[in-house]
Amino acid sequence: MGLWRGVAVAVAVIGAAACGDYERAAPAADVGGGGPADGVGAEDVAPGPIVGTAVAREAQRPGNAANGFAVLASGDYVGCGVPAALAPVAQSAGLFGDWPPLPGREEALPYFLSRFTVQSGVEVVGPNCFTCHANVIDGEVVIGAPATDLDYGGFAGQIDAFRGQVAALEGVLEPESYAELSRFAERMGAVAPYVQPAVAGVSPADNLAAILFAHRDPVTMAWSEEPLLEPPPTAVVPVDVPPWWRMGKKASLFYTAAGRGDLARAMMGASTLCVDDVAEARRMDAAFPDVLAYLEALEAPPWPYGGVDEAEAAAGEAVFEAECADCHGTYGAGGRYPNVWIDVDEVGTDATLAVGASNFAQRFVDWFNGSFFGELARLEPQAGYVAPPLDGIWATAPFLHNGSVPTLRALLDSRERPKYWRRQAGYDEAAVGFRFEALEVGHAGIANPSARRRIYDTTLVGYGAGGHRYGDDLTDAERDAVIAYLKTL
Ligand code: HEC
Ligand code: HEC
Repeated sequence: MGLWRGVAVAVAVIGAAACGDYERAAPAADVGGGGPADGVGAEDVAPGPIVGTAVAREAQRPGNAANGFAVLASGDYVGCGVPAALAPVAQSAGLFGDWPPLPGREEALPYFLSRFTVQSGVEVVGPNCFTCHANVIDGEVVIGAPATDLDYGGFAGQIDAFRGQVAALEGVLEPESYAELSRFAERMGAVAPYVQPAVAGVSPADNLAAILFAHRDPVTMAWSEEPLLEPPPTAVVPVDVPPWWRMGKKASLFYTAAGRGDLARAMMGASTLCVDDVAEARRMDAAFPDVLAYLEALEAPPWPYGGVDEAEAAAGEAVFEAECADCHGTYGAGGRYPNVWIDVDEVGTDATLAVGASNFAQRFVDWFNGSFFGELARLEPQAGYVAPPLDGIWATAPFLHNGSVPTLRALLDSRERPKYWRRQAGYDEAAVGFRFEALEVGHAGIANPSARRRIYDTTLVGYGAGGHRYGDDLTDAERDAVIAYLKTL
């Protein structure tokens, strides 16, 4: 990954501000609660015993999906970037690699970069939401599919090198361009130490949001060189990027059901990297109902590999409806999605995110709720995880909120989950997910940092692969059938 792609990833921090989710107020005390205030009685609660807490869908501003795509593909929501005058240099130096363009956009740039003009009038190139929210699958850019190849591990070092290169351009670039470039480089430098997960492929989005909030006045949005709040720890609580095509069903944003109220405003937090005043934020926000409408209209990509036995999938559907549907809903005509979050003690997956590590302290929730974003949206993280819709689940490997489980087969049989694993090239059509190699040693046994980051070590804090044992008691035939059925969603 060249420096340019590295910088692209850097700018991606922008998007992550919208995508963090933050600590609950009183971690232990609230566990087990849920509370009737949280939308029990929502129309679409699944029949049968209530296993989780339903979240009711709140009214949203109307939006235009077609315009939403234009905003995502070419909008200025990122607020800063590298002056476009430098783009041809980067391109001819091969720094763009051979990344494909964005389908539906007339622009030669790789799909994860956009060209736009910032407030100072300088045209810049900066990464867009597709850096994390698109993936190349069998050579095709699939919009909304989670990016799974980003390695932020060497980020702080890359940004240091980048800042050195930027400094060398003083007096070479036009003053306005230089000012934009250094603003961008400074912001990157401020966040870089806080956004380096221990494992490649998982996202630092939540930590990133926290450090951006820490540098910004909630009321005026003005950036402060010095953090105004105590920064989050540099040890990242990892999250797996979720697919966008769930948004047509979901009533909240984020794994812990944290994003509530006006969801367009909640995801607008993406602009906190370089949007430095409320007037600019308000202008950008006006387009975000269109972005939400676009996301809500996206459909999951169908299973592309064929070979699904219809009778087996039908048998799997019956097992699914008995064992899984109370939480994950039913599919096809008349399908119902209950929108429940499940207490972390019940689902048993890694608790770090849900109970609020110090990374997600109440100060960040308070910042958001007292800010421009809090005018219409709010963060209300729960001590549990949303049971997500499983549409297009094949395209979302690895699984669980922290991406700790490489295949559906391992997700549905906890005995099969590797303690230490390394992704291998190619897709495993039978197990549905990443091909992987199970290893004997974890991070403690590997000296080289980039080799270490290639290993998913489930013994690290926040990276655990336990819990969600709802598939363990299925027979092998039932599990195979459920997997066949999941391919059809
Ligand atoms: C740095 C990578 C990154 C970028 C860039 C990014 N996101 Fe995200 N996004 C994430 C991650 C990770 C999550 C999950 C966070 C969580 O739930 O804790 C997420 C969650 C979301 C969700 C909620 C999905 C769900 O199922 O709850 C939406 C909607 C979303 N992002 C929209 C956007 C938009 C719009 C942009 C651009 C303005 C953007 N994201 C940019 C990484 C990113
Ligand atoms: C009691 C509620 C509940 C039941 C029953 C349940 N699940 Fe889940 N499931 C969840 C929750 C909550 C999560 C998210 C956990 C996390 O991310 O830590 C989840 C996650 C998943 C995921 C991973 C989603 C992703 O994007 O990573 C899959 C796949 C899944 N469940 C399939 C199933 C299947 C198949 C069954 C039936 C055999 C089942 N679940 C039964 C609550 C449930």
